[in-house]
Amino acid sequence: MKELKILAVVVVLTLITYWGVEPFAHSQMHPHVDAPDYTFKDVDGLKGTQGNVENGATLVQANCTACHSIESQGFPQIMDDASSAAAYGVVPPDLGSAGKIYNADYLAAFIKDPAAASKVGHKFEDGRVHPMPGYGWMEAQEIADMVAYLQSIAPETMSNKEVFTDACQRCHGIKYGDMQNGTMAAFTPVENIKSYMGKIPPDLSQYIRSRSTSYLHEFINDPQKHLEGTAMPRVGLTQEAENQVVTYMQEVGDSKKPEREALGPKFLIYLVIFAIFAWLWKSKQWRDMH
Ligand code: HEC
Ligand code: HEC
Repeated sequence: MKELKILAVVVVLTLITYWGVEPFAHSQMHPHVDAPDYTFKDVDGLKGTQGNVENGATLVQANCTACHSIESQGFPQIMDDASSAAAYGVVPPDLGSAGKIYNADYLAAFIKDPAAASKVGHKFEDGRVHPMPGYGWMEAQEIADMVAYLQSIAPETMSNKEVFTDACQRCHGIKYGDMQNGTMAAFTPVENIKSYMGKIPPDLSQYIRSRSTSYLHEFINDPQKHLEGTAMPRVGLTQEAENQVVTYMQEVGDSKKPEREALGPKFLIYLVIFAIFAWLWKSKQWRDMH
């Protein structure tokens, strides 16, 4: 009787811990945040305006290529990485893939007002200005033309690594991506990015292990949801491009994952076979005893 009572007490305490305390602690340590929004409905986007590619080409060449290269269209970098990092705080990305990796409404909103679209307005108060000028003074039609042009020159397909390079590498290195040649270091030298961002963006080689994939998606889509006041801008990637970035982080940081997952079913088959033999052996033993 006494044992039964002790058992009952233990069971009750365990259940209280499991359903009462654990979910509470979890909700405190990992507050719920909304799922990523890949339509970027909060931004001042295209509002359905259709762009004209030819006019967009003229506008982009006149307004953007002084800072941004578009290598695929024959517009090289005007300054090398070190000089443009010194001038702007960060190396401006090549725009060859912008029309593919960024959501079109986000891209339009970013061109109009970079700080607002990427949710870093809090960093640019007291006379500090975003290194990229806003083009909000242009006609909505002209903004749509530039977006249409950027979409027209974007490659059809990109590797996961290429998306990472265009979207993240100006700020973040991912060193394990290329240990031998060191090509996956961040493009912007540490001193420049530190004074621009206020802190050094971490190397992303191992983040797939320390953060869940859902956290990474939520964070890239809107960093402010997890780290309020953070210096990292929102990167308005399409869902497809964001999946490619996270997959690349997985390939680099956790390359054994597919192998590990493939092992699961094999282990289960082994267990089943083992169980059959154990059962056969047990029956034999008992047969001899009777
Ligand atoms: C004076 C230099 C300058 C000019 C001119 C300029 N940009 Fe930028 N642009 C930057 C810098 C610097 C960044 C990186 C800012 C950052 O990461 O905080 C940037 C970032 C971007 C991004 C990345 C957006 C993101 O969310 O990561 C896009 C797209 C872009 N610019 C498009 C354009 C277009 C289109 C034009 C012309 C209409 C243009 N830029 C003109 C300096 C410039
Ligand atoms: C303009 C610079 C910039 C760009 C572009 C950028 N980041 Fe960041 N990122 C930062 C900074 C700065 C931090 C540190 C933020 C902090 O600790 O407040 C950061 C932090 C992070 C973190 C750590 C979050 C955490 O929980 O500690 C991850 C993960 C991350 N970035 C992923 C990305 C990915 C993926 C991309 C490309 C899609 C990207 N970042 C693009 C500047 C950038």
